[in-house]
Amino acid sequence: ASIASMPTEVPSANRTQDRSAPAVAMPADGFENTPDTDPSLGANRAWADGIRSRMADSVLGDETVAGNTLSDVAALDAVIARAASAGESWRALGADGRAAILHRAGEVLEQRRADLLEVMGSEAGKVIEQGDPEVSEAIDFAHYYAESAKRAEAIEGATHRPVGLTVVTPPWNFPVAIPAGSTLAALASGSPVIIKPARQARRSGAVMIEALWEAGVPRDVLQYVQLDGRELGQKLISDPAVERVVLTGGYETAELFRSFRPDLPLLAETSGKNAIIVTPSADLDLAAKDVAYSAFGHAGQKCSAASLVILVGSVATSERFRRQLIDAVGSYPVGQPWDGSSRIGPLIGPAEGKLLHALTSLEPGERWIIEPEKLDDAGQMWRPGIREGVAAGSPYHLTEYFGPVLGIMTAKTLDEAIGMVNAIDYGLTSGLHALDEDEIAQWLAGVQAGNLYVNRGTTGAIVQRQPFGGWKKAAVGAGTKAGGPNYLVGLSDWEDAPVTA
Ligand code: ALA
Repeated sequence: ASIASMPTEVPSANRTQDRSAPAVAMPADGFENTPDTDPSLGANRAWADGIRSRMADSVLGDETVAGNTLSDVAALDAVIARAASAGESWRALGADGRAAILHRAGEVLEQRRADLLEVMGSEAGKVIEQGDPEVSEAIDFAHYYAESAKRAEAIEGATHRPVGLTVVTPPWNFPVAIPAGSTLAALASGSPVIIKPARQARRSGAVMIEALWEAGVPRDVLQYVQLDGRELGQKLISDPAVERVVLTGGYETAELFRSFRPDLPLLAETSGKNAIIVTPSADLDLAAKDVAYSAFGHAGQKCSAASLVILVGSVATSERFRRQLIDAVGSYPVGQPWDGSSRIGPLIGPAEGKLLHALTSLEPGERWIIEPEKLDDAGQMWRPGIREGVAAGSPYHLTEYFGPVLGIMTAKTLDEAIGMVNAIDYGLTSGLHALDEDEIAQWLAGVQAGNLYVNRGTTGAIVQRQPFGGWKKAAVGAGTKAGGPNYLVGLSDWEDAPVTA
């Protein structure tokens, strides 16, 4: 067996549902990923200290939020009408004209990196270590989709048009990168956008949107709204002028949207319950580090987070792996993002419901290796926990919890471990730590998930390198992977399938 170490991504074409869009490739040659801030440089550490000192009382984004909160149907109707009628002039700019504005948006987002980190910390509990790559990802989306749009327009022999008015409903856990990605893709393809950032992270969304306006995206083409009351949300989704809804959120939210409008043209990335398998051929030290980061980064509040680790064969009794995992968790101090020693911030709200249950109770046969500990009265600050003895088919095995708790399962063989992964309804990310090429091949062939990572954690997909999107109940509706060559295709209507790109 030889050694394999590169992150692996299975091409989207054979890993996504039928989406009646042609499988064209639009590689963005010349695109380069934006570097994250290097914390080993003293100047960058001082820069980060400055951001943290402003974080606690940041008011960034307040004005936009206040000015765009709608409380009645007439105001919402006006927004929809303005956005719908702005589409034509935006489309008339052509891909080159729109790409120039999107490239500029990437530059403005870079200039506002500190503001974005400040507001994500104050509002959404993101520590700088987590927020910084998120800003890089948003910038990557701007440049990547700008180039993708130009390539799509250059494809000969096919007629395509933007789908038209697109509503973007992003989540609170990536309050900059996810709304930026969905919005920039729709704008690149020529569609006007109404965006409703998540309530818990609306100021972060506002700062991102201000950057796009500043770059030259007209305010009618990109409209920010907050809605007072669920009726207005239902009205927005149901309005016939809305041609596409891009949702990132829970599976139940996709179901809710479809209950509002059964024929809703929906592009949705929904929910995850992700596992990393560790086999005896793995580098166990690296595996422990990657499992801890994937499980507890941003307090486990990522759809891509690892919520399970499945130990195969002798790894199940490896004292070394167990010790390394416990040590790794010890290197995740919990605290406010404006405290420089914090690596895990507060949860977005008090732990409740099924997450609280997962943090405070065990099923028969389970034991805590590290028991989660509540550190504040509100129930938002939790030291992470690890439970072992999770049984196949048990609630912890199959349920999404979205918080700082990891479960350990054991399997006799890799085949059994793959079966445990595939028994889960969602298929978003999946990880394997193994250095044996045959095991890697077996896992790649058998595991059901959108993003497959070998000898790497399951979070932090990089634009272009690891296009991101799910399978099974992690993906609903039409659409291809975000940050990948086909994403804009999913936001366009095509008449003749192009033969090639
Ligand atoms: N795209 C995000 C990640 O990969 C969700 O972690």
